[in-house]
Amino acid sequence: ARTRRYSFNVTMATVTRLCVTKSIPTVNGRFPGPKLVAREGDTLVVRVTNNINNNVTFHWHGVRQLRSGWADGPAFITQCPIRPGGSYVYRFAVAGQRGTLWWHAHFSWLRATLYGPLVILPPRGVAYPSFPRPHREVPLMLGEWFNADPEAVIRQALQIGGGPNVSDAYTFNGLPGPTYNCSSNDTFRLRVRPGKTYMLRLINVALNDELFFGVANHTLTVVQADASYVKPFAATTLVISPGQTMDVLLTAAANPSSQTFAIAVAPYTNTVGTFDNTTAVAVLEYAAGASAPQAPTPASATGSLPFLPALPLYNDTNAVSDFSSRFRSLASARYPARVPRTVDRHFFFAVGLGADPCQSPVNGTCQGPNNTRFAASINNVSFVMPKTSLLQAHYQRRYNGVLTANFPAAPRTPFNYTGTPPNNTFVTHGTRVVPLEFNTAVEVVLQDTSIQGAESHPLHLHGYDFFVVGTGSGNYDAGNDTAKYNLVDPVQRNTISVPTAGWVAIRFVADNPGVWLMHCHLDVHLSWGLSMAWLVNDGPLPNQKLPPPPSDFPRCS
Ligand code: C2O
Repeated sequence: ARTRRYSFNVTMATVTRLCVTKSIPTVNGRFPGPKLVAREGDTLVVRVTNNINNNVTFHWHGVRQLRSGWADGPAFITQCPIRPGGSYVYRFAVAGQRGTLWWHAHFSWLRATLYGPLVILPPRGVAYPSFPRPHREVPLMLGEWFNADPEAVIRQALQIGGGPNVSDAYTFNGLPGPTYNCSSNDTFRLRVRPGKTYMLRLINVALNDELFFGVANHTLTVVQADASYVKPFAATTLVISPGQTMDVLLTAAANPSSQTFAIAVAPYTNTVGTFDNTTAVAVLEYAAGASAPQAPTPASATGSLPFLPALPLYNDTNAVSDFSSRFRSLASARYPARVPRTVDRHFFFAVGLGADPCQSPVNGTCQGPNNTRFAASINNVSFVMPKTSLLQAHYQRRYNGVLTANFPAAPRTPFNYTGTPPNNTFVTHGTRVVPLEFNTAVEVVLQDTSIQGAESHPLHLHGYDFFVVGTGSGNYDAGNDTAKYNLVDPVQRNTISVPTAGWVAIRFVADNPGVWLMHCHLDVHLSWGLSMAWLVNDGPLPNQKLPPPPSDFPRCS
């Protein structure tokens, strides 16, 4: 195992997209940010220096941070922000995980431009378990571009109480591509050679959109999700939610029928509100001379598009549930699935949108439903971001005035999908957490409370991978649904979409002491309070305790 050092200098840089030039926060002047690479078992040391006129923190999304919670990064959960001019060294190991993860800013909406891949290769000399080594491995970040300042977008949304302005384009590694204004030259091109196999390390870095993904005329083989191997399966359309990662194999045709094919993303949502209903295109480009002589005219730089893949309609929830149901962990001797077979504590979390009274109206109104402000909650509690680090408060056992350990185990009112809106939009506010004893086997049933016309919620758990043991549509029914759980080879992930008008059940063992955020990875829902935290106590043994914070830890005054 090695130690790998990186420097992140957070600076403003001038970037032009869609004919709009603006100054954006970047790491080392690059957009998107640099790729971090490690081998399983390595230690990463990332020295961050903040040279922008805003606070910042970084989160290493999906890294387990076993007993290194001080490096996890969500602002006011594990640390106070790195102030302008300040610095902090994030130090953590990547153990027991391999595949693609990513990093992003975890303060306000700064992750709109501060993000990049974190690739964990197998240890030296260890092969991939179920597929040969690809010819090339290519990170592909599926994102969103806002012409406006994303900070201003969320500030305004919170003030007027309505939904935020939506993004102006989807992007591939920061490039919108030829379906948008002035963007033909800003097109991501994946150059391939006939017959070779490529691994796409897909990451949904979008702020607010679940995405369909496909490559025209090419089948993809999914081999990894959230840095865990899965039993390989073939698919023509993928669904990937914000926060999720997926490694897929693409084999270039031996005799391609064209020189270029479109790689496309489009949103999945059935929200009634407005959303960015555009399709972004990148180009899969065969080496010159590879295509058959009878091939159609390839796309030219003058704007004609290569063959588009057929993506599902924006609200095709069946396509989404079909795809999600196909994930199985490898569950092999070498990569066993250590699913908790019994649980010590069971939680039922109702997850969804709600409303607050209009408090700061603009022109007399708020823009949520019936002149309210939108809010979002778990069990009717909308999370209030504390002013100090919960982890620091926990380490010092100073909870008074910071958090309360009374997060409800059930929603305030039970509800039912009967075809009419459930009356569960009532919202309270608080920084409420669930304390867990070390090594507790936890089951959480996440029930979406929306009716037709809402979206699913990609719930991300910090500090853990969890097993997805069951899912269904409509109401979770403890009596029947528990019997159908998959405890043999459920997929292991750090982010799972709670399906619209459905539920999902997850299990994990609380073996990582610290304070761990669980939240919707649609940033607007996070801003509205769709979040909670687990407070996992130390175990009795020395190697089961959270060590003290590093000396340069950005303390909260
Ligand atoms: Cu990728 Cu708390 O986030």
